[in-house]
Amino acid sequence: MQAMIELTNICKTFNKDRSNQVMALKDVDLRVETGEIVAIMGPSGSGKSTLLHILAMLETSDSGKYLLGGKDTAGLKDRQKAALRNKNIGIVLQEYGLVGELSAQSNVEIPLIIAGEGLGSSKRKALEALKEVDLADKAQTRAGLLSGGERQRVAIARAIVTDAQLILADEPTGAVDTKNGLAIMELFLKLHKNGKTIVIVTHNPEIAAMCQRTVYVEDGWIKYEYNS
Ligand SMILES: Nc1ncnc2c1ncn2[C@@H]1O[C@H](COP(=O)(O)OP(=O)(O)OP(=O)(O)O)[C@@H](O)[C@H]1O
Ligand SMILES: [Mg+2]
Repeated sequence: MQAMIELTNICKTFNKDRSNQVMALKDVDLRVETGEIVAIMGPSGSGKSTLLHILAMLETSDSGKYLLGGKDTAGLKDRQKAALRNKNIGIVLQEYGLVGELSAQSNVEIPLIIAGEGLGSSKRKALEALKEVDLADKAQTRAGLLSGGERQRVAIARAIVTDAQLILADEPTGAVDTKNGLAIMELFLKLHKNGKTIVIVTHNPEIAAMCQRTVYVEDGWIKYEYNS
């Protein structure tokens, strides 16, 4: 079967032209099969978010190759990347990336509106997604007024609302309590059962153990991997 993700020799350096250079990723090879659920673990600053941003095509590597669904992403223009992302990738960023002035529901509607979905079905689907993260009661609350854990759940609802084949989540349970964390993980496991490919960055070994495989990143390298 075609791998969903195939990274080869990915390098990423920040502040390339200045003295305080950071080699965030060094020669990273990563293959994620279609339908797999994978955890990425590693210390703070090891390059996990950078790796996820590259997978989401929000960041471009300096060198190396990235095949997404077998398609080389190298030649894509920003517009093409944005369209691919909108259609195929659900992303939960570490900082959530919500619009504080908009309601929870409106935030979740954004990727659907971008995809050209009608207003009525966008609203309906957004509410369904908020129900999945147990936040339907806060649908009309402005995102900026929500607690950290609630904002995190809105970000998850937004990532799943388009029914994307690939879900990338950066510490999706980092801001919630154990009970909500488990509920979120159960949601991801349900999506995985329905055939989605899922990559989750986590500091929590229990969350990682619920995935099929853990990739351990340290100092910009993939140090080791193991199956759960
Ligand atoms: N835009 C940037 N400009 C400069 N340096 C950056 C940038 N983004 C990340 N870095 C650096 O790259 C390294 C990897 O950062 P990254 O955010 O990927 O780590 P992380 O593993 O996600 O950490 P955490 O667990 O704290 O979220 C760090 O040293 C960070 O300071
Ligand atoms: Mg991070």
